[in-house]
Amino acid sequence: MASRPRWARGPRVRGPIPGPRARAIIERDERVMSPSYTRSEPVVAQEGWGCYVKDVDGNVFLDMSSGMFVLNYGYSNPRLIRAAREQLERLTHFAGTDFYYESQVELAERLTRITPGSFPKRVYLANSGAEAVEAALKCVRWHTRRPRIISFLGAFHGRTYGAMSLSSSNVLHHRYFFPLVPGVSFMPYPYCYRCLFKQSYPGCDFLCVEFIREYLKRVIPPEEVAGIIIEPIQGNSGYIIPPPEYLPMLRELCDEHGWMLIADEIQTGLGRSGKMFAVEHWGVVPEIVCVAKALSGGIAPIGATIASSKVMDWEPGAHASTFGGNLVACAAAIEGLKLLEEERLVERARKLGERSLSYLREMEEEIPIVGEVRGKGLMLAVEFVKEKGNKKDGTKERDMVIQATLKRGAIFFRGGRSSLRIAPPLIISEEELEKGLTILREAVEEVAKKC
Ligand SMILES: Cc1ncc(COP(=O)(O)O)c(C=O)c1O
Repeated sequence: MASRPRWARGPRVRGPIPGPRARAIIERDERVMSPSYTRSEPVVAQEGWGCYVKDVDGNVFLDMSSGMFVLNYGYSNPRLIRAAREQLERLTHFAGTDFYYESQVELAERLTRITPGSFPKRVYLANSGAEAVEAALKCVRWHTRRPRIISFLGAFHGRTYGAMSLSSSNVLHHRYFFPLVPGVSFMPYPYCYRCLFKQSYPGCDFLCVEFIREYLKRVIPPEEVAGIIIEPIQGNSGYIIPPPEYLPMLRELCDEHGWMLIADEIQTGLGRSGKMFAVEHWGVVPEIVCVAKALSGGIAPIGATIASSKVMDWEPGAHASTFGGNLVACAAAIEGLKLLEEERLVERARKLGERSLSYLREMEEEIPIVGEVRGKGLMLAVEFVKEKGNKKDGTKERDMVIQATLKRGAIFFRGGRSSLRIAPPLIISEEELEKGLTILREAVEEVAKKC
């Protein structure tokens, strides 16, 4: 659908959510679908355009979460659809693991150009974020011949065994799945608002980095460590942003011990944070970058592991997957990267993000249940508390706000125990963004009055 349909001009809630059609589908879903999904809101989608999604009962929502951080180019982006359709009509599948096609090469060339570092790079194409992480984990173990890896408390890297073993955002991701992939040590993430060492930044002497150094003296021999995997801004834990010195300090540790630095940019990458990759905020160059989510704009599953050629030196057969880097996903991803550049969406995310953050800061000052607002580019978060000062998790308050925004026709997503994430498509208009933030403010005010 090339032009904006009439319904996609603003949020519109016509009745209860879920409405009768949605309720019927949810009932069927509950009978046959795996109960392991974390279905958080009863929205049953029917069609989408731009920043809007219409449900099966005709309710229209402004999606301030980009279909869970995937739809950076919006729903039904005509350019991506055209690229995918042309590919589908030409050739749907060819065994990219055993033969060749040009779009894999072109996508890899583009990814090596936009990722930090001017050294030669190679790319592994996967089907998802978790698979991109698996490839990074296997690659650093293979390259270094070292078994251990350092990850962080609050990290989320996916749900396959390797990715899950590197994750620690919620204990239920691990419950009853033990034994996990061995050799992972979790370090505290620099979550300054809730510092585990009860320090305040600045003036904290970076006890979180000191802790890693202490660990290396007492628990893990540094020469057994292959690398560190980190989300430069922790995503699922609620957009936690490290202080400016932190990532450069990690880079130093890596250089000191010959460790590989893996940046999981699956949520932060491709312009979302106002830079092409979030590590660029701190001038840090990792050996490996993982991307997925927004890469093909939601047209077809894809993930990518982009590594220094020196590091991605494994032998043929060491790693591959039938559908990784499939033709349709590659066509959409290439078109998406062109769009990102031509429409200057990274710059747009930065500018719109700065404006949104100052709007949110007013909420932080004025509304007692808003503990902290933070963000870079169009990845912004509001952390809720019971009341200012005590910092007790405002989980109930956050959940009530999500419900209240939904009733007003906007979708926001949870993050961590008490945060709400704001991550609209990068193509959002100023007017739509203002609408979304106004809905949020009204919802927060309503909940603050009730609590
Ligand atoms: C930072 C990060 N890494 C990895 C993943 C896993 O990606 P996928 O769900 O595509 O496997 C996610 C998904 O939320 C993520 O946010």
